[in-house]
Amino acid sequence: MDALIAAVGFEDALREELGAAGLEAAAPAPGLVVVEREPWPAGLDPVFARQRLPGCARLAGDSVARLARAAFDLLATPLDRCDHWTLHAFAWPDHDPSRGRPSLVAEALLDLVQRHRRRTHRRFVPPADLTLEQAAGLTLAQVLLVDRGEALVSAAAPLPLMVGLDPDPRWPAGFVPVAPDRRAPSSAYRKAEEAFARLGLAPRPGERVVDLGGSPGGWTWTALERGARVLAVDRAALAPPARGHPLLEERRGDAFKFEPDAAVDWLLCDVIAAPERTLDLIDRWLAGGWCRRFVVNVKFKGDARRPALDALRALLLRRGARARVKHLVHDKNEVTAFGVA
Ligand SMILES: C[S@@+](CC[C@H](N)C(=O)[O-])C[C@H]1O[C@@H](n2cnc3c(N)ncnc32)[C@H](O)[C@@H]1O
Repeated sequence: MDALIAAVGFEDALREELGAAGLEAAAPAPGLVVVEREPWPAGLDPVFARQRLPGCARLAGDSVARLARAAFDLLATPLDRCDHWTLHAFAWPDHDPSRGRPSLVAEALLDLVQRHRRRTHRRFVPPADLTLEQAAGLTLAQVLLVDRGEALVSAAAPLPLMVGLDPDPRWPAGFVPVAPDRRAPSSAYRKAEEAFARLGLAPRPGERVVDLGGSPGGWTWTALERGARVLAVDRAALAPPARGHPLLEERRGDAFKFEPDAAVDWLLCDVIAAPERTLDLIDRWLAGGWCRRFVVNVKFKGDARRPALDALRALLLRRGARARVKHLVHDKNEVTAFGVA
C-alpha cells in the first residue's frame, strides 16, 4: 500500500489524478489518500501529492512505547540494510514534527535503534537542513500517525524526479518551511520561496527577472532581496518596499502582451487568469527561449482542473523543460509550475 499526503480538501483532486494513471485510491481521512496496488508506476508525480509513503504498513499501539516498538519491528531490517537513513514522524494535517505525539514516537524509536542496532543508529542522519544531494542518498523512514494508536510506516529510498525526489527526505509531510518575511508587500512571497526551495535554485545577484502580475510585490520582493534586477509588469502599482527599490523597474500594462527585449534569467508569473491563458503564456515564453528558469502559478475556477493539468504537463514535456508542477503549501485552488527551460 502507498499512502499520500494531500492538502485537506484536495483529496479528490489527488484521487482523480491517480485514477487517470490507473490507480484506484481511497481517502480514509482528511488529507490522506491510499492506494492499495503496488508497485508505484515509474515517474508518476501527482501534482496534489505533498509526500508519499511507499509500500507502507499499518500498525497499532495504545501507547507511545508500543507504537515505537511496532515501528521498530517493521523498520529494523530495512534500515539495517541501507547505507544512511533519516526519519520523519508526523501526524497530518497537524504535521509539526517537533511537538506532540509524533516527536515522542520518533524519540522512542531512535532510542530502540540505538539500544538494539548500534551500527544502524550510527548511520542515522537528522532530517533538518539536508541538501538535495544528501537527501538523494538516504533511505527515508516515515511514521505517519493517523490516530492516537494507529500509524502508517514506510521505509524507502527516494526516486529521483526531474526536479526533486519522491519521497523527499528534506521535508517531513512534504511541508516546505518558509521563513516569515514581514517586509514583503504580500504573503504570496511564500509560494515563490517554496518553488525556489523545491527547485534548488533562486534568483541571484545581478540576474534579470520578469515578474508578470507582480503587484503588490511579494514575488518581486523575493528577487529584489536576493539582489536580482526585476521588471514587474502589472496593471496595478506595486507597494513599498518593493516599490521604490533601486533594482525594480515597474511597467504598467498587459502581462499577456509583454515580450522581453532579450532573454531573462527568470520568469515569475502569478497573474490571475483562466488556466488556458496562463498555459499559452508559458508556451510562448518557452518556445521563444525568453527565460532560463521559471515559476508560474496556474489558477483554477472550480473542480475542472484535469484538462489544464494534462495540457500543462504536455507542454512542459514538448518544450523540453526540466520542470515540476505542484500544489504548494500556500497554493489555494491553483498549482505552481517551476523549472529550468
Ligand atoms: C495574485 S496577484 C499577484 C500577487 C503577486 N505575485 C505578489 O506576490 O504580490 C495577481 C496580479 O495579476 C494582475 N493582473 C491580472 N491580469 C493582468 C494582466 N492581464 N496584465 C497584467 N497584470 C494582470 C493583477 O493586477 C494582480 O496584481
